Amino acid sequence: MSVKVLFVCLGNICRSPTAHGVFESLVNERGLQELIAVDSAGTGDWHLGAGPDKRALAAAKNRGYDLSALRARQVIVNDFDTYDFIMAMDNNNLDDLRAMSPARFSGELALFLHYTLDLSLLGDAPKEVPDPYYGSGDGFEHVLDLVEDASKGLLEHILKQHRL
Ligand code: 4NP
Repeated sequence: MSVKVLFVCLGNICRSPTAHGVFESLVNERGLQELIAVDSAGTGDWHLGAGPDKRALAAAKNRGYDLSALRARQVIVNDFDTYDFIMAMDNNNLDDLRAMSPARFSGELALFLHYTLDLSLLGDAPKEVPDPYYGSGDGFEHVLDLVEDASKGLLEHILKQHRL
């Protein structure tokens, strides 16, 4: 039995593909790819089928993550039957996901940054991965800092929960 993790943002071209690539590479590094499956999706439908934003691709590549094969898709209700962990990047994503979550959903729907290990990365900011789409390029580095740390936290949690 494998654990399935879905990362969700608005467009599925910046934050959630970054989380997808970073978390998947951590899973692969630990040799856990048979046990943990990873995907990402967006609540919106503007970018269906598109690859990640070129700024997200470049920032990730610079840290050794290859996001080039990822393609945007929209979250579907069926995802709540498939995934054990649905990780929202911000509170808007979380609200949208809660609104579509069927009563039978038995997994965990939460803010991804709930799993932040180094709280100094957040300061007084909420536990959200800020949307870098309309900002300057720095936003993508900050996304990576937050995502790398929370990925470690989430993986530790899954390993503990499943006694792996
Ligand atoms: P993401 O960023 O949710 O991190 O993929 C965005 C990408 C596109 C748009 C908004 C946010 N957009 O409005 O097109």
